[in-house]
Amino acid sequence: MRLSVNVDHVATIRQARMADEPDPVWAAVLAELAGACGVTVHLRGDRRHIQDRDVEVLRETVAGVLNLEMKACEEMVAVARRVGPDMCTLVPEGEGELTTQGGLDVVREEKEVRSAVDALSADGVDVSIFVDPDVVQVERAKAVGAHIVELHTGVYAEAKTPENAERELERIRVAAIAAREMGLFPHGGHGITYRNVQPVAAIRELAELSIGHSIVSRAVSVGMELAVREMLALMDVVE
Ligand code: PXP
Repeated sequence: MRLSVNVDHVATIRQARMADEPDPVWAAVLAELAGACGVTVHLRGDRRHIQDRDVEVLRETVAGVLNLEMKACEEMVAVARRVGPDMCTLVPEGEGELTTQGGLDVVREEKEVRSAVDALSADGVDVSIFVDPDVVQVERAKAVGAHIVELHTGVYAEAKTPENAERELERIRVAAIAAREMGLFPHGGHGITYRNVQPVAAIRELAELSIGHSIVSRAVSVGMELAVREMLALMDVVE
């Protein structure tokens, strides 16, 4: 199974100081060197983490698949058409939300979604729609012309009991099988961590997982010791 690494929260740390580090482009290079099939970034309307320039520089540097997550709106379609990512994932975007809340309701937002899919497909971009693991949503995603569905794994990730987690895994499995039967590529993502990844990764029908927060968090943790040692070495100046 392939892994696309979402580097949004590298930019979140940078934006906390409006500084120029850490750079999501640097993180993207390292993620690809480590074996990721590509890199995902979400350019939000409020630009709270990833900036337009990041997407432009990533377009020049990502060797694998550059996946731009975005709302299905005119502004973002224009950015995508200018920059030319390999893939776009259409996601819902609510004001004030901490992160994406649930899948896109393709039934309710059909007009905007169809128009975004048409424009992006015309430019040769692979279009994915982030949906709840629900066969009706997968069918609607297929009907509006998507090539990929990213199945929302957040409810599985937040399940409080093993029974609820198993029920949600089964919904993901059923939706992934249905997507394959319709000729769509099923991906999965949201809320996946080092603790909960294995049962999702065992779903053979899923082609790819998109993981961000947990990988960036771990990178900060496992990198801390080296970072402190390097600072101490610089402080150890001979008088
Ligand atoms: N997939 C989608 C559609 C998302 O919106 C996000 C969060 O930006 C992710 C995957 C990655 O989620 P997480 O950061 O929880 O791994």
